[in-house]
Amino acid sequence: MQWSQVLPLWHASYNWAMCHNEEKYPNPSEFDPDRFLNPNGTLTDDTVSVVWGFGRRICPGRYLGEASLWSAMACLLAVFKFSKTKDETGRENEINPQWKAGITMRLQPFPCSITPRNGEMDIAALQDLIRVSV
Ligand code: HEM
Repeated sequence: MQWSQVLPLWHASYNWAMCHNEEKYPNPSEFDPDRFLNPNGTLTDDTVSVVWGFGRRICPGRYLGEASLWSAMACLLAVFKFSKTKDETGRENEINPQWKAGITMRLQPFPCSITPRNGEMDIAALQDLIRVSV
């Protein structure tokens, strides 16, 4: 085994440990976006910048990556409502996220409801909107 094989693993586990710091992120494995909100609803200044790496090897695509994700999320949230599915009695099904470990952690598919915010929007118009957004 060479250093070039060991270092990325060490690097990944170091990043993982920082993102799972219980003191900074209580219950770190729970999906809780509210942890990045101040009590008044504004964003905290925590951008979890460790995900981009450090020093001279820091990701040069971080600004493009972050802006692209922000833009994609904002477009999706503007057009669709994301919610939990409901059972036959109308009660919401809780989501229990399952992750698959590998070189990266991957979220497993889970049921959720995605509906257009504008109920009058026809499907063709919606598809057109999605096409010009991506
Ligand atoms: C969500 C998106 C992205 C994430 C989470 C990410 C994360 C990372 C991380 C952790 C590294 C390793 C830094 C290190 O070794 O310390 C890296 C390197 C790199 N990333 Fe990204 N990246 C993303 C998007 C991009 C994009 C959009 C581009 C280009 C347009 C890009 C180009 C690169 C390059 C060229 C390197 C190698 C830098 C070097 O070793 O000198 N990345 N990225």
